[in-house]
Amino acid sequence: MRFRSRPGPLVGLPLLEDLPDVAGKKVLVRVDYNVPLEYEDGRCTVADDFRIKTTLPTLHWLQERGAAVTVCSHLGRPDGTPDEKWSMTPIRERLAEICPGVELMDNLRFDPGEKANSDAFVDRLVAGFDAYVNEAFGVAHRVHASVVGPPTRLPSAAGRLLAREVEVLGGLLNHPRGPFVVVLGGSKIADKLGVLRALTKKADVVAVGGAMAFTFLAALGHEVGASMVDTDRIEECRKLLHSRRTEILLPTDVVALEPGGMPLGSVPPGIGNQADTKVLGADIPDGWQGLDIGPETTEAFAEAIATAGTVFWNGPVGAFEDERFAEGTHRIARAVADCPGCTVVGGGDSVSAIDHQGLAQQIDFVSTGGGASLSLLENGDLPALAALRGASNAPATGRS
Ligand code: 3PG
Repeated sequence: MRFRSRPGPLVGLPLLEDLPDVAGKKVLVRVDYNVPLEYEDGRCTVADDFRIKTTLPTLHWLQERGAAVTVCSHLGRPDGTPDEKWSMTPIRERLAEICPGVELMDNLRFDPGEKANSDAFVDRLVAGFDAYVNEAFGVAHRVHASVVGPPTRLPSAAGRLLAREVEVLGGLLNHPRGPFVVVLGGSKIADKLGVLRALTKKADVVAVGGAMAFTFLAALGHEVGASMVDTDRIEECRKLLHSRRTEILLPTDVVALEPGGMPLGSVPPGIGNQADTKVLGADIPDGWQGLDIGPETTEAFAEAIATAGTVFWNGPVGAFEDERFAEGTHRIARAVADCPGCTVVGGGDSVSAIDHQGLAQQIDFVSTGGGASLSLLENGDLPALAALRGASNAPATGRS
């Protein structure tokens, strides 16, 4: 890790090497094992253990040095009481297979003190432990007890994964190799305007797809038919388009569902892709709903990606869970995978799109955090990092 010359959250972050000797000590590791589960024959198992595997280097590092390791995580969004649906048992079983000897606590969100960041809960959590490691990038943007509390009580460190996430995503903010191309999709523009604003100051090209593109098209005066538009954000989009220093690519054509067409997700796989859809221009007639970027837009986005020195992609550019509106997202995934530059994909649905096509190996860095990666890019810091920098063993200033 080369943090020395870097500003912001990377400076002063304690790493594993900054912990006191862990031999014979009890170490609490906050991980993000909020993983997809699957149910078969009445048995619940882990459907995708990517998030578990990414923590193994840190767990092994601690075990090899003689630490007794306990990990803790949330799973799902239980409301502060124990709920069998969100039991950690399937995860405990998987962890025992791939990293024997590590204990896993109960779901942290079974206690209301976790989300409330209660002092009493932090005290209970750290009782009996000698050190704390944060390896949970996926919740690094949450001011929850297990994320921000332990560094106020114990010598603490960022685990290997957390440090790597910060190094790579922080690197996007600090002189990325140009051209720097950002592709943002997803449906909720309200969640993405902040990061869009931040990235338009850093990127050469920002390509906007997904449902949120329609609020931008509305801001430019286009007809958007029955497409999803956040009317409260049109003015902000207009300002962003006018104040931009960067090129913002918006759809010039879309794949739209005809009025009264089969609703999203209702078409069985294999039934004609185009049955009740049409490729339209950026002006969408009444009743038609834009649900994917069209072929011309897809090619324009792919062309920008192909020449990029650095690409960051977060969010599908269409309703890709329905095969009628999946082509744009699949094509973007392939373009990112084929890009010779440095490629970074933010967590969530864009990672599913990459996985769906078996492209993960061709991506330089796949982040384990969706909301956390956007929050880091927007704010340049995260509550988890600030807490770690405040730990008693944190390097006072830059790393030496
Ligand atoms: C995630 O899966 O994105 C993280 O675990 C965060 O989960 P949360 O949004 O429920 O806090």
